[in-house]
Amino acid sequence: MGLVTSVDEFREARRAWAAQGVRVSLVPTMGYLHEGHLRLIDAAKERSDVVVVSVFVNPLQFGPEEDYDQYPRDLERDRRLAVERGAAVIFAPDADVMYPAGSEIRVVPGTTAERWEGLARPGHFVGVLTVVAKLFHMTNPHVACFGQKDYQQLALIRQMVRDLNWSIEVVGVPTVREPDGLAMSSRNVYLSAAERREALSLSGALSEAHAAWRAGESSASTLEVIVRQRVEVCPSVALEYIAVVDPDRLEPVDRVDHRSVIAVAARVGPTRLIDNIILRDGLSGAT
Ligand code: PAF
Repeated sequence: MGLVTSVDEFREARRAWAAQGVRVSLVPTMGYLHEGHLRLIDAAKERSDVVVVSVFVNPLQFGPEEDYDQYPRDLERDRRLAVERGAAVIFAPDADVMYPAGSEIRVVPGTTAERWEGLARPGHFVGVLTVVAKLFHMTNPHVACFGQKDYQQLALIRQMVRDLNWSIEVVGVPTVREPDGLAMSSRNVYLSAAERREALSLSGALSEAHAAWRAGESSASTLEVIVRQRVEVCPSVALEYIAVVDPDRLEPVDRVDHRSVIAVAARVGPTRLIDNIILRDGLSGAT
């Protein structure tokens, strides 16, 4: 089918798949696909017969001072990459299809959204959960795949699916990294060469904290100091937060265990980056 922009056209195809008993997966994206997104397609392919990739830069999840206008877009390239990787359909509705005039209802997250990204980006998770809920209703998938790089987003989507009684399997896919460890992100294109070098301090710091934990350190505050010291020597990197948290509600912990997550957010020059490590897994996706 290739590219579909209309909800009615998509639903027609969805009805035909239902009649054939086909298992459908959804990979929600904001486009400008990179290898991280393509691994989501791989994970979706393993779990379904038909993979749908949605491409929609969601205005509702950007704050007024954020990069909605500059966010990189290239729908034709996205279509080609997704189809080459095995997606059957690229669902790319326009903003007025997603949010027709008069559309007001929003999904309000609970306390899990109050800290970290939710605090740094007021309203962000209302936008994310609202658009993901709409995409779920429009595409009616059996499975939906999301990257672990946006760890809090993944936790909130799992919670939404559970709290709203959807029978959708939510799959978290490990972060994909550049060979030097930088977590892949569509926003990496904003980095200058010098900023990109300093951005490596984020994955480097998480790796150091992981090594300390493997060596027996379980104090959250000590791990936080390890991360902070590694990042603070880089003049272009301004740390926003270091979260040493439990994996479900993302509440701070005093002592970590194998399920704990360390998440960081920083501005590298003008670009805001996030990264995290699940202690059990190490620096996921590191090559
Ligand atoms: O992770 C993203 O790219 C976006 O937040 C998502 C899940 C596609 C919702 O717009």
